[in-house]
Amino acid sequence: MSKIDFTVNGTRHVVEADDDTPLLWLIRDNLGLTGTKFGCGVGVCGACTVLENGKAVRACQVPASEVSSRSFVTIEGLSSDGSHPCQRAWLQEEVVQCGYCQAGMIMTACGLLQQYPNPSDELIDNVMSDSVCRCGTYPRMRKAIRRAADEMRTKKQ
Ligand code: FES
Ligand code: FES
Repeated sequence: MSKIDFTVNGTRHVVEADDDTPLLWLIRDNLGLTGTKFGCGVGVCGACTVLENGKAVRACQVPASEVSSRSFVTIEGLSSDGSHPCQRAWLQEEVVQCGYCQAGMIMTACGLLQQYPNPSDELIDNVMSDSVCRCGTYPRMRKAIRRAADEMRTKKQ
């Protein structure tokens, strides 16, 4: 067991965990933030995606031994009231079907928009198809990302 000293959603935490415990379980089990989901556990599905410095990171692939001093944002940290442009756009476009993949999808979309404020449909499809939605919500996610991108750019002007 080692002490892990890290920050999630702006709050510093110190927890004890085995070195090979994935960040995903620190977030869910130690911190009780269950919005971040377990899907495949091998870095393929994207259900566990969180942000680090605005970039999407798959939490099942980060061992506890590499977590100290780092800072992450989970779906709970995007906004306290669901007002983040991506969350709002997801509702407005009625993206969600079963919902299991969607926290990871929203975090992936946020990472995309941090890097590319005005992504093409092709780029959106390329990035989002790297994560698995078994309900096939990709077309609605594309619309929601375009909507969120428009809102974020308008706010900046
Ligand atoms: S659970 Fe992490 S990528 Fe699938
Ligand atoms: S909404 Fe069901 S898996 Fe994506």
